[in-house]
Amino acid sequence: MSFDVAAIRRDFPIFERTVRGGKKLIYLDSGATSQKPETVIEAESNFYRSHNAAVHRGAHQLAEEATDAYEGAREKVANFLGAKSEEIVFTKSATESINLIAYSMSNAPSGSRFALTSQDRIVVTEMEHHANLIPWQQLASRSGAKISWFEVLPNGRLDLDSINAVISEDTKVVAITHQSNVLGTINPLEEIVARAHAVGAVVVLDACQSVPHMPIDVKKLGVDFLVFSGHKAVGPTGVGVLWSNQLEDLPPFLFGGSMIENVTMESATWAPAPKRFEAGVPNMAQAVGLGAALDFLSKIGMDNIFHHEMALTKYFLEKLQEIPTLKIVGPLDLENRGSCISFTVGEIHPHDLGQYLDSQGIAVRTGHHCAWPLTRKLGVPATTRASLYLYNQEAECDLLVSGIVNAQKYFA
Ligand code: ALA
Repeated sequence: MSFDVAAIRRDFPIFERTVRGGKKLIYLDSGATSQKPETVIEAESNFYRSHNAAVHRGAHQLAEEATDAYEGAREKVANFLGAKSEEIVFTKSATESINLIAYSMSNAPSGSRFALTSQDRIVVTEMEHHANLIPWQQLASRSGAKISWFEVLPNGRLDLDSINAVISEDTKVVAITHQSNVLGTINPLEEIVARAHAVGAVVVLDACQSVPHMPIDVKKLGVDFLVFSGHKAVGPTGVGVLWSNQLEDLPPFLFGGSMIENVTMESATWAPAPKRFEAGVPNMAQAVGLGAALDFLSKIGMDNIFHHEMALTKYFLEKLQEIPTLKIVGPLDLENRGSCISFTVGEIHPHDLGQYLDSQGIAVRTGHHCAWPLTRKLGVPATTRASLYLYNQEAECDLLVSGIVNAQKYFA
C-alpha cells in the first residue's frame, strides 16, 4: 500500500483549523500527545450517545452493550500487542500503569516473588521519563531496595559495557523505556531482557513512544510488563494500558467495586486478573475510543507507519543538521532510532525558540520533557523537541527549518 499522508490528514479534523492568526497548523508534538482521527472522536462520543451504562453491572440491555464494547476494546488491545485479553488491564494512563505495578509489588506478601526488601535492587536508566523513574524511587524508599541505573553515553545510547555489574544478582526489577521521549533512542531489549532474566528480575517496559509507532508483539519482546498510553496512539486521553502475562501473581493496588470475588464485613478476596486491577466503574468510553484508535492504526498498518516515520526522520535529521548552530541530542543515525528529535540552537533558549516557532504556527515541545536527570546529564538547561507521527510530511520539516533560521535572525 502506498502511504497517502494527504488522505490520512483528512481523517484528522484538527488539521482543518489554523492557529495564531490564520497560520497553517504544523503539529510536531505527537510525542506529548497525538491528534485524533474522526473515527476515534466518533467512537467515544457514540458510546455516550447510544450505549452508556456501567460495565459488568446491571441486567439491562445498555449494560450488556457497554460491557461488550468495553471488553471488545480489551480484545482489540490484546490483538494489537499479540497478547491475550486477560493480560490487558485498562488504567487511566501509562503513568498509572507503572504506579500500579510498583504499588502492587509493595502489597506483595513478604517472601513472594514480587516482594522487595533492602536486599534487593531496582535498575532503571538515565533516560527514563519521570513516570518510569519516580514510582521506582518511591518503591525503593518503601521497601529499602537500592536503585542503580544505566548511564547514557554522549551518542545517546545506553552504556551497556557493564551490564552484568548494573543488573547484579540482587536485581528484582529492571524498568526501562523502549524509545526515549527525548533522544529517540530505541534500546536493545534483547541483551537487557536476557541479563535481567538470568538474575531472576522482571522487566517493565515503558512503551509509550514505541507502541504508537512500530509493530509490537509482546511475545517477541520477552518483557514481563509493558505499559503505554492511549492518547499518544491517536486514542483518547484518560486511558492507559498495562500488559503482563504474570498478573495472577500480583496483588491488587486499588480496592473497591468489581475487583472482588467475595466480601464479608471483615475481609475480601480478589477476582482474577484483569478485573482485580480495575476497581470502580472504569473509563469505558475512553477504552472504546482506544479500540477505534488501534483499528485506525491497524488499517494503515504499523509496518507502513514505521517506514513512513523512518523516512521522515532521515529527512528531518539531514535538514536540521544543515543549520550550523543546531546540535541534535541523541543518535544521528537511523539504527535503533525513532522519530523524537531534540536539539539546541546556539544560545537561543529553547523556551524562546518554542515561542517564536509557535508564532509561526509550529507546535514543538520545549523543556526537560519530564526527563530532568537526562537533561542534566546532557549538560543543557532544556531542549526543543520535534516529534513526528503518521500525519507529518516533509514540507513541515522544511517549515521548521526555515522557522529556526528566522528565529536566529530574530534573536540575533
Ligand atoms: N511524555 C510526554 C512527552 O514526552 C508528555 O512529551
